[in-house]
Amino acid sequence: MSHELEVEALFDEWAIEDGAVDMAREHWARVEPVLSALTPSEGWYLEIGPGNGYALEYIARLKFANGRVRAVELSQEMANMSAARVQDLDNVSIDVGSFLNWHAPKDVKFDLIFSMEVFYYFQDISAAIKKASGLLAPGGELIVMVDYYEESEESRDWSEELGVKLTRWPQSRYLDAFKAVGLQGVTQEIKSGGVHEHGLTLCTRGRSPSEIVHE
Ligand SMILES: C[S@@+](CC[C@H](N)C(=O)[O-])C[C@H]1O[C@@H](n2cnc3c(N)ncnc32)[C@H](O)[C@@H]1O
Repeated sequence: MSHELEVEALFDEWAIEDGAVDMAREHWARVEPVLSALTPSEGWYLEIGPGNGYALEYIARLKFANGRVRAVELSQEMANMSAARVQDLDNVSIDVGSFLNWHAPKDVKFDLIFSMEVFYYFQDISAAIKKASGLLAPGGELIVMVDYYEESEESRDWSEELGVKLTRWPQSRYLDAFKAVGLQGVTQEIKSGGVHEHGLTLCTRGRSPSEIVHE
């Protein structure tokens, strides 16, 4: 089985098992301070790997209610759960497949691209960061949050426990990869909190240059 098929099967199973409710509850504690601080926008939002759709719904109802919201989710079962949450909204569209093969709608660039707990499932994280940064509108922001990174003790054994190969980068590598694709004002912080697990999430963010500089 290919790596992506293994990841897809894992998350189909989690979605069917319990709707990924516990995972979402834990993640929301760290995601909420990041998303609630965003200024409402009339632009385009993209979420990579929304899982059961808790953040997608929040964004679509509160922060991009007058904008357009897209998501790309590898697991059909997770995508179904996300879709159920936003079925009454006409500004949301969810595609099923891998972000790495995904094609954005023609001529669309995103004002915000967000992802929580997804990037270490990519075998080539640099390629995913490069692709995401290329989809940003001028001045658009990329926010990548991960719990699985080199400095995180709690997550050390996850790859073995899940039986899926995960990519374990140190914090500095996320920082450098954001800068390497030309993102500006790149920052990192650790978000903590949760209901039972009190996990630590590395949040790396940076913006596309707001205008092209001609030298
Ligand atoms: C740990 S879950 C996190 C879900 C959600 N973002 C959250 O915070 O609870 C990882 C999600 O990323 C999705 N995913 C993994 N690889 C992906 C890929 N290549 N393209 C799109 N989604 C992917 C999985 O199917 C799963 O729903």
